[in-house]
Amino acid sequence: MVKTVAVIGAGISGLAAVKSCLEEGLEPTCYEKRDDIGGVWRFTDNVEDGSPSIYKSLVSNSSKELMSLSDFPMPENFPNYLPNAKYLEYCKLYAENFQLMKHIKLKTTVCNVQRHSDFSLTGKWVVVTKNGEEKNTTVFDAVMICTGQYTQPVLPLDSFPGIKNFKGEILHSRDYKKPVGYDGKKVLIIGMGNSGVDISTDLCTKASQVYLSTRRGVCVFRRLGPDGLPVDLSFTTRFRSLVQKTVPTAVSRMMINQSMNEQFNHGLYNIQPECLLSKEPLINEELPSRILAGLIIMKPGVTRFTETSAHFSDGTSVDDLDVVILATGYHVKFPFLEESVINVDNNKGFLYKKIFPVNLQQPTIAFICFIQPIGPLMVIAELQCRWATRLFKGLLKLPSTKEMKDHLDEDEMFRLHWFETAHQNWRRVDYVQYLDNLASDINVKPNILKLMLTDPVLGFKLLFGPNIAYQYRLSGPGKWAGARKTIMTQWDRMEKPLRTRGMKKSSPSPIAVFASLLPWFLCFVVLCAAILIKG
Ligand SMILES: Cc1cc2nc3c(=O)[nH]c(=O)nc-3n(C[C@H](O)[C@H](O)[C@H](O)COP(=O)(O)OP(=O)(O)OC[C@H]3O[C@@H](n4cnc5c(N)ncnc54)[C@H](O)[C@@H]3O)c2cc1C
Ligand SMILES: *[C@@H]1O[C@H](CO)[C@@H](O)[C@H](O)[C@H]1NC(C)=O
Ligand SMILES: *[C@@H]1O[C@H](CO)[C@@H](O)[C@H](O)[C@H]1NC(C)=O
Ligand SMILES: *[C@@H]1O[C@H](CO)[C@@H](O)[C@H](O)[C@H]1NC(C)=O
Repeated sequence: MVKTVAVIGAGISGLAAVKSCLEEGLEPTCYEKRDDIGGVWRFTDNVEDGSPSIYKSLVSNSSKELMSLSDFPMPENFPNYLPNAKYLEYCKLYAENFQLMKHIKLKTTVCNVQRHSDFSLTGKWVVVTKNGEEKNTTVFDAVMICTGQYTQPVLPLDSFPGIKNFKGEILHSRDYKKPVGYDGKKVLIIGMGNSGVDISTDLCTKASQVYLSTRRGVCVFRRLGPDGLPVDLSFTTRFRSLVQKTVPTAVSRMMINQSMNEQFNHGLYNIQPECLLSKEPLINEELPSRILAGLIIMKPGVTRFTETSAHFSDGTSVDDLDVVILATGYHVKFPFLEESVINVDNNKGFLYKKIFPVNLQQPTIAFICFIQPIGPLMVIAELQCRWATRLFKGLLKLPSTKEMKDHLDEDEMFRLHWFETAHQNWRRVDYVQYLDNLASDINVKPNILKLMLTDPVLGFKLLFGPNIAYQYRLSGPGKWAGARKTIMTQWDRMEKPLRTRGMKKSSPSPIAVFASLLPWFLCFVVLCAAILIKG
């Protein structure tokens, strides 16, 4: 019988883990190596080894209604896209509201997690923590790993010949904090993920020239959607996910290609990806206009460095380079964990439903938030926590090891089909499908068909509106009485921070959303008709 749970890390996942344990009557102890909670969202001027690190200008890439956890909406005066300090504030409000701090031990690093000698019988874990010089060993019934995906930087120094001779400054994107000290410098940024692009737009008005090097192109979206609404309100919907699942893949690729090229033609800017979704899309408003202004110059992959220059695969080079920033991402590593538990296959992964290691007998460990959706990670993390605590309590049964392994194979096929590659992408999921799948495992998935009949306004909102987390509190275990009202008032909270001139409420929003959905809807109708005629 599981009672005590060690939660490792007090980012938003760790907070959700502590909260879920309390909800299920478990006794959590959360260890956080830094001196405060918040994880990624806690900006510091210095970089701490083994902890996440962000730049000062970071703003969330999902909007606040989508990032809110299921029973704690963001304050209505919060802006729709959150600067990092605002999201940190949300973490603190969350911890305060559910009185989580008394379960969290700050400045305490977990240095070792191992199976207890009678693990096969009891499923217990031995956890070694360190606070200053004081080392403690504690036995727990279960462990939740919430240490984040952004702590172990990839430094691909071997893949760039000559980089060791380079005389300028070389840093990883995690060491970049502010555009200070770059005046008049020539900067090369390697890698076109969210960080690489954010840093290039952050720096480009200070530096004498910014070059952004990428081997593959990438889809760039902006935050500003139709009518100035946050783009994910119309993009991250159950309906859209349903259509994507139903229509032939080629058709939905065409639709995605079409909508990403509405803002600017990726082909013209030389960054059209060959495989549309093989890399996560990124969210940045400024990139195209900075390229237009020549402040950022796109470059292909780097082939080699000299003492002062970089050479690219198209034969061109850049001389007198001052700084190279490697925005080359992160490894997923668990340096404190017994090797045999984790056996990361970069194509298949090792986690059933991205949570539980398939080769373990006892269901007493969970990996939280090791995922890459196109959507906010924290909502997924929270539902994973609810799933895991029910697993610990025996309220959720795992299938056999064989079935779990088959599940990994199926998942790999899905990713190969949808993202056109399985390479290094075991963490990727379809946002809505993945959430719904976990939710139905623990009986908290809303029954949309039934709602359409019994509470059509709510049903309509859940089908066509943004896929917000409150819906997973409408029924089943962990039901929250405020869920329905919170869903009904989401547009008020979205509009509130925009009406700061005190003007009366305007309400074009539902229409705008409807308009943006219309093409999908028509497509759906045509498809249904086609199926009917064929059948
Ligand atoms: C630059 C950047 C921008 C991002 N922007 C977005 C965004 O806009 N939207 C979005 O949804 N997601 C974004 N993310 C993803 C982000 O990681 C998640 O949103 C979320 O914050 C993950 O929370 P977490 O708690 O899982 O991990 P983290 O926030 O990384 O927290 C992990 C915590 O564990 C602690 N820890 C690690 N090892 C140990 C140990 N051995 N012992 C004790 N404590 C330990 C760390 O100190 C840290 O506090 C971004 C990530 C980065 C790096
Ligand atoms: C270590 O254990 C002792 C005794 O159980 C306890 O008083 C102390 O708070 C623990 N320290 C940490 C860092 O957990
Ligand atoms: C995407 O659209 C652009 C033009 O809008 C076109 O040139 C390109 O071939 C399309 N790519 C795919 C993969 O459909
Ligand atoms: C936001 O950024 C994080 C971290 O880079 C990424 O994992 C996530 O997919 C992004 N979300 C969207 C909607 O692009």
